[in-house]
Amino acid sequence: MSAVLKDAPQLSPMRESDLDEVLAIERAIYGHPWTRGNFVDSINAGYECRCLRLAGELIGYFVLMVAAQEGHLLNLSIAAAHQRRGHGRDLLREAADLARRLGARNVFLEVRPSNRGAQALYTHFGFRKIGTRRGYYPAQAGREDAIVLTLPLK
Ligand SMILES: CC(C)(COP(=O)(O)OP(=O)(O)OC[C@H]1O[C@@H](n2cnc3c(N)ncnc32)[C@H](O)[C@@H]1OP(=O)(O)O)[C@@H](O)C(=O)NCCC(=O)NCCS
Repeated sequence: MSAVLKDAPQLSPMRESDLDEVLAIERAIYGHPWTRGNFVDSINAGYECRCLRLAGELIGYFVLMVAAQEGHLLNLSIAAAHQRRGHGRDLLREAADLARRLGARNVFLEVRPSNRGAQALYTHFGFRKIGTRRGYYPAQAGREDAIVLTLPLK
């Protein structure tokens, strides 16, 4: 196998045995991280939870819920040391493709108005704003709204 192929990031189902690594990333990159229970519940609920590994190292993950022909991307994360190298865009593409294969006609997600980097990723990918959820997120001073974005899946 060529070095290029061997070093390509690999996607795999997220298991409870991945959660120590997942939580280390989660706690490092979010002010209000998901808890272990949030991930365990997502796995047990049958949500589509995937890990992205590069040479064995966990570098990202997503959690996607698909129901009633609609995908809801609940979590998309890339470890700080691996950001701005295209992995987030690749992982988003994997999540959207998976939602499509599972019958979704669109995928939607929430993002903090303060999270400019993620908004840039999503809008460059083709997501469009469809609304706002007032006080959706916990924030340092009270609550923060969520911008709701959607992407039609062809
Ligand atoms: C948001 C996140 C998933 C993006 O992943 P990433 O691997 O860093 O992003 P990519 O390298 O694939 O970026 C793709 C494009 O998105 C945009 N983008 C991504 N991060 C950006 C940033 N911090 N500032 C501005 N634009 C950004 C750029 O257009 C970028 O293309 P470019 O690098 O050619 O300019 C990642 O930064 C992350 O996990 N952040 C913390 C958690 C988070 O905010 N998750 C999303 C919650 S809704």
